[in-house]
Amino acid sequence: MSTPFAPDARNDAPLDGRVVVVPGGTGNVGEGIVRAFLGAGATVVVPGRSRERLDELAELIGPRLGDRLVRLPAGYGTFEESTELAERIVADHGRVDHVVPSIGGWWMGKTLWQTDESDWQQHFVETTTSHFAVARAFVPRLDAAGSYTLIAGFAAREPYPRAGVISMHAAAVLMMREALSADLRGQRRVNNLLLGPIVNRSRPNGDPSWLTADQVGEAAVAVTLAPSVQDESVRLGTVEELDRELARIRA
Ligand SMILES: NC(=O)c1ccc[n+]([C@@H]2O[C@H](COP(=O)([O-])OP(=O)(O)OC[C@H]3O[C@@H](n4cnc5c(N)ncnc54)[C@H](OP(=O)(O)O)[C@@H]3O)[C@@H](O)[C@H]2O)c1
Repeated sequence: MSTPFAPDARNDAPLDGRVVVVPGGTGNVGEGIVRAFLGAGATVVVPGRSRERLDELAELIGPRLGDRLVRLPAGYGTFEESTELAERIVADHGRVDHVVPSIGGWWMGKTLWQTDESDWQQHFVETTTSHFAVARAFVPRLDAAGSYTLIAGFAAREPYPRAGVISMHAAAVLMMREALSADLRGQRRVNNLLLGPIVNRSRPNGDPSWLTADQVGEAAVAVTLAPSVQDESVRLGTVEELDRELARIRA
């Protein structure tokens, strides 16, 4: 069994001095990602559209790790906003080492033909645009040894009834990652985690085989630390898969 957080048995702050940006860090999965990177010693910058949600995240993280959490009230939903955000973080911190976007959540309840224009706008256009805007702003500014690890769900590969728009969004984001890999040709490490259902603060109970948000964070840190993981989609549907992948990645 994996432990809740164990980045590297030889060094408990392997990301000391590194700057990690987590767009969507205020979210259910993002919280675990933020906690794991703080636990690994990084400075973690979380941009967010709402000051309230940023403050709620700081409370959830607590004071022990919170001194390296940078709450940045700023949007990244347009190309302009994302570029301004990336420029500001580089100006403030001098570098961006790793970016782990965990943007947009779950939605269901309508067939594709019932989906109206405002659903489409909210659950496809806005979330997909945010992912793209973040990628085009941050990838060219990543440190030479940096990485980009985006978070996606199984819906990208498996259509769920009455959640088709979410599947279409997730599939677009996964293909964006593959296209980034094709464009970069090894110049930066770009990967994605492909998640099943996650136990998190909004859904504290679930099947025992499901990962928790903290375990997603553990996997994201492991991918970030492993130079050999490049242009991969790391499938993490169950704790058993997580254990197998962590053993492979850390070998
Ligand atoms: N939860 C699960 O069980 C699960 C399972 C598999 C995959 N995933 C994946 O994990 C990622 C995060 O999911 P989550 O459950 O953490 O979602 P969440 O709780 O809704 O958080 C999503 C975050 O995305 C940010 N965001 C920025 N622009 C957005 C927009 N236009 N619409 C909605 N959110 C926007 C929000 O930040 P601000 O509001 O602070 O700006 C929010 O904190 C997604 O890629 C999802 O597909 C989740």
